[in-house]
Amino acid sequence: MEPLNANYWNERYQAGQIPWDIGYASPPLLAYAASLQDKQTRILIPGAGHAYEAVALHQRGFEQIFVCDWAPLAFAHLRQNAPDFPENNLLVADFFTLDLQVDLILEQTFFCAIDPALRPDYVAHAARLLAPEGTLAGVLFANPFPFPGPPFGGTAQEYSQLFSTHFSIRQLALCEQSIKPRAGRELFLEAIVSIE
Ligand SMILES: C[S@@+](CC[C@H](N)C(=O)[O-])C[C@H]1O[C@@H](n2cnc3c(N)ncnc32)[C@H](O)[C@@H]1O
Repeated sequence: MEPLNANYWNERYQAGQIPWDIGYASPPLLAYAASLQDKQTRILIPGAGHAYEAVALHQRGFEQIFVCDWAPLAFAHLRQNAPDFPENNLLVADFFTLDLQVDLILEQTFFCAIDPALRPDYVAHAARLLAPEGTLAGVLFANPFPFPGPPFGGTAQEYSQLFSTHFSIRQLALCEQSIKPRAGRELFLEAIVSIE
C-alpha cells in the first residue's frame, strides 16, 4: 500500500482527484449539530478536507470550530468560503499529534481514510482530545469494501468493540440521513467518552 502520508493526500487535492468529497456539508452531521444548543461548543473536525461542515456551522453561529487536515491544500475551500473563520482554528497537522480539548468531534470519512492498523490509536486519541462527557459523532461505512483502500470499511461489530475501549456507545445504527449514493451503506455513531 502506498504510504498514506500528508503528501499522498495533498497530491489528491492538487490533482482534483477527490471522489470522497460530496461538495456540501454532510447532512447527518448537520442534523446532529442542529441538536446542539450551545454555540460555544468546542467542535473538532479531523481530516476535514474541504470542511463544508465547518463552513456551515460557522455560518450558523458556532464560534469554536477547529478543523484539522495535514494536506495544506485542503483548506483552500474553507478560506475562500468563510474568510472570517479564525486562522488559528485551521490546524494543518497530523491528527495524532493534536493537543487541544474539545466537546465534540465530528467524523466524516476521516476514520475510513487512515490505515486500519491505526484505528485503536484513532479511538484512544479522540478520547484524549475530548473533555469529560465529550462526544464523538459521525458516519462510518457499514461494510468492508471489496478493494484495497482507502477508503477502508468495517462492520458495526468491529466498530462497537473498537470504540467501547474508550467510549460508551449511545448509537451505532444505520444512518437515516445519508446522501443517496451512500444510503444504506453508512452507520451513524454517537459515542460518549468514558472517564478513565
Ligand atoms: C477521504 S478524505 C475526507 C475529507 C473530508 N472529511 C470529506 O469528507 O470530504 C480524508 C482526509 O483526511 C486527511 N488526513 C488523513 N490522515 C490524516 C492525519 N493523520 N492527520 C490529519 N489529516 C489526515 C487527508 O488529508 C484528507 O483530507
